[in-house]
Amino acid sequence: MSSAPLGAGLVGCGAFGAYVLDAVAGLPGLGIRAVADADTHRAAPLGARHGAAVCDGLDALLARADVDVVVIATPPHTHADLAVRALRGGRHVFCEKPLALTAEDARRVGDEARRSGKALAVDHVLRHNPLLRALERLMAEGLLERPRRFLFENDAADEDLGPDHWFWDPARSGGIFVEHGVHFFDAAEALLGAAPATVRATAVRRRGGPVDMVVADVVHESGALATHLHSFTHAHRAERQLMRLDHGFAESVITGWIPTRATVTAWTDDDGAARWERLPLRAAELLDVAGFEPSGDERVTVRVERGAGGSAPASGRGVSRTVPHRVEAVVDLGGEAAKARVYTQSVRAAFADLMHSAATGSAPVAGAAAGISSVAVAEAAARAATSGTERHVAARQGGTP
Ligand SMILES: NC(=O)c1ccc[n+]([C@@H]2O[C@H](COP(=O)([O-])OP(=O)(O)OC[C@H]3O[C@@H](n4cnc5c(N)ncnc54)[C@H](O)[C@@H]3O)[C@@H](O)[C@H]2O)c1
Repeated sequence: MSSAPLGAGLVGCGAFGAYVLDAVAGLPGLGIRAVADADTHRAAPLGARHGAAVCDGLDALLARADVDVVVIATPPHTHADLAVRALRGGRHVFCEKPLALTAEDARRVGDEARRSGKALAVDHVLRHNPLLRALERLMAEGLLERPRRFLFENDAADEDLGPDHWFWDPARSGGIFVEHGVHFFDAAEALLGAAPATVRATAVRRRGGPVDMVVADVVHESGALATHLHSFTHAHRAERQLMRLDHGFAESVITGWIPTRATVTAWTDDDGAARWERLPLRAAELLDVAGFEPSGDERVTVRVERGAGGSAPASGRGVSRTVPHRVEAVVDLGGEAAKARVYTQSVRAAFADLMHSAATGSAPVAGAAAGISSVAVAEAAARAATSGTERHVAARQGGTP
């Protein structure tokens, strides 16, 4: 990585812009130079906290020679245009999700990133979560099969979302699939290892109010089926989430929308049992994510019950295996108490990834491709919910809208 410090300028000094800046402050090789908001009263305290100049918008940021990376944390409907302008201005871009409200606009940003040669990363924090990274590694090693089924149930909080919040206005947020669903459409694509192909969806409106509950069934190109449910109807204290991966002879159950704990149960053979038993010794390597500082409380525990299923072959979906041993593995980042820290560190890792791409020209973990694909499936889901028909996901140019 280049040793010249990179200067960051933030546009959008609301709740999450401040969160991002606090998370990335102190990253080696990064200086926070300026913060901008259409409402400079919001920018001023954040600027003071980080010793950064205060501006009134993107043009003022781009006029500064010390800003190399533009961080975009404005509401979703502004992202695509701000990102294109920043890239045209010769800056790298770290963009809050969603990359855009539509796949067409997301592709426009992707095209500009390619033309400019600048790095573009989208803040899909789940891509930098050590627990999901560990599951991806176990799949790559063949200890777990790629899932044939993905489920995400999100009983989310609406406690801070007053009736006038932009979140409820599809013209500004894109609706729940676009504003929030993109995190999980993207995570599903990464975990399933296959692009989304078709989607069916349903949206439910609260009486006299906005749509607050949505569900989408996405069939991926591998034939895997992913179900995404988001319900913004809860108090913070009653929030709960469940992610479940069906690997056939194994299952992963993950808790928290910021995953902090996974339980994997698996049926395996002699070789698999020995490999599972060695996992705790490999915890640091399994959970390693560049830019994410472990707390030291991370744990991988494995219990193997040998012969629990008997020695006769077992078969499912026409596949027969001799898998007599039952494995129960727990990957724990510190449970619910660790959520805030894991969230902050995931944002920090996403930003470190952008810095790495800026320095080396390598593709970021979640760049334009992830941004475009997740918005394409979200947009298709929103249309499917309206039309009541199955939609094709048009991530690539020329796909059926
Ligand atoms: N990655 C994550 O986990 C995560 C979590 C929460 C929010 N977000 C995203 O962060 C973004 C911001 O959300 P928020 O909750 O902080 O919103 P917010 O409403 O609290 O803040 C948005 C800020 O942007 C400013 N603004 C709007 N348009 C502007 C423009 N054109 N130029 C300059 N300033 C402008 C507003 O004045 C406001 O201060 C959204 O895209 C949201 O989806 C991401």
